[in-house]
Amino acid sequence: MISKRAEILFKETPPLVEAHFKCAADPYHNETNRDGYINFGTAENFLLEEKLVEKISTIPNITGKTLHYDFPWGSEALRTSYASFAEKFLGIENINSDNIAVGCGLSAIIEILSFSVFDEGDKVLTIAPLYNGFYHDFETRFKAKIELSHSIDRKGVINREILSKDLKNTGAKFLLINNPHNPIGHCYSKSDIRMIIEVAKENSVFIIADEVYANSVFGDSEFISFLSEEFNDLDYKESILHLYGLAKDFALSGFKVGFFLSHNEKVTKAVQSLTYFHTVSTHTQHIVNNIISDHKWCEELFNYNNEILKETFSELTNGLDSIGIDYYPSNSGIFTMIDLTPYMKEKTAQAEMELFNFLIDELKISITPGQFFGEKNYGFFRVCYAKPNETLKSFLQRLSKLKEK
Ligand SMILES: Cc1ncc(COP(=O)(O)O)c(C=O)c1O
Repeated sequence: MISKRAEILFKETPPLVEAHFKCAADPYHNETNRDGYINFGTAENFLLEEKLVEKISTIPNITGKTLHYDFPWGSEALRTSYASFAEKFLGIENINSDNIAVGCGLSAIIEILSFSVFDEGDKVLTIAPLYNGFYHDFETRFKAKIELSHSIDRKGVINREILSKDLKNTGAKFLLINNPHNPIGHCYSKSDIRMIIEVAKENSVFIIADEVYANSVFGDSEFISFLSEEFNDLDYKESILHLYGLAKDFALSGFKVGFFLSHNEKVTKAVQSLTYFHTVSTHTQHIVNNIISDHKWCEELFNYNNEILKETFSELTNGLDSIGIDYYPSNSGIFTMIDLTPYMKEKTAQAEMELFNFLIDELKISITPGQFFGEKNYGFFRVCYAKPNETLKSFLQRLSKLKEK
């Protein structure tokens, strides 16, 4: 009944998806379900719900126009608002609605890109550890091949020599960058961005810059976009494809809205035409347009978000310190990597999975083993900590039971 290609896709449920579903079926709640699963595996921010519900409830009612089709790649109004949002909050200037495509989530936009710019087997080099969804979005259906460059340190600093060598050796057609970096939780510095663009240019490689955490920056680093005017002198803008979405900075993961932006007319046209299969509902576009065009509210939201992320990260790290667990010194995004090697029999992929299973089955906490991010050193897990205080406390309490293991 089912096609061969679908069979390949669904032959088994990946362990991370299984863990996510376990958590969704029996979720922890501080008052009503203290015994439920705690999901610190999925990169979602639960700290902004109240502010978002309040804002969205003030948005003017939908009109007849919002009940019908609009441009599949996003209404003129929404793309115009996004151009001005991108200038103010991403630091990307000189763009207009023609440079933009809107799709139902950033994953969908990435899949569209995979279809648009890669032929089967073409390689995209990314910096490991990497956001594991890239495998799904680039490889699963349209068969681009992800290659890893282990050229970043725990503070998000890039080694030019390794990156350059990896670009040459793999023959990659694109370099995929995630800034701020998921899962490390760091922005790239201005000098590293300049260097990365230079290296890409030397190797005639396009850059895909996923900057979906651009406004989730709470520490001592500063977000600068790969498309910032700072790098105009390198004359490489047309070779940079930019990605953003509402799932992270706005904590609107359920809205499934992603943005593609580029000065490259040909690629933009291809992406726009393919959004036909992944169009955002006109109703949702109406709401999103109202949200992102209110710059004063966005600024307040981001300021609040970054304050509360800072506090939450500091509570997490205080807790980890008292248990004796080491972690990356993150200052952006909504995650960090923690070192659980002392709780493994040996530093192998299998031992890491055994620990993952123990955490989910015995302690009922879901966090993601580094092997899914292409992390070479087994024993590091990504922790997504943007959760209410009581949930964070319970998470730490359960994690501390590892000492009894
Ligand atoms: C770096 C990165 N890009 C893309 C996505 C996917 O975003 P969306 O939920 O809008 O599909 C995620 C989600 O975790 C992400 O972390």
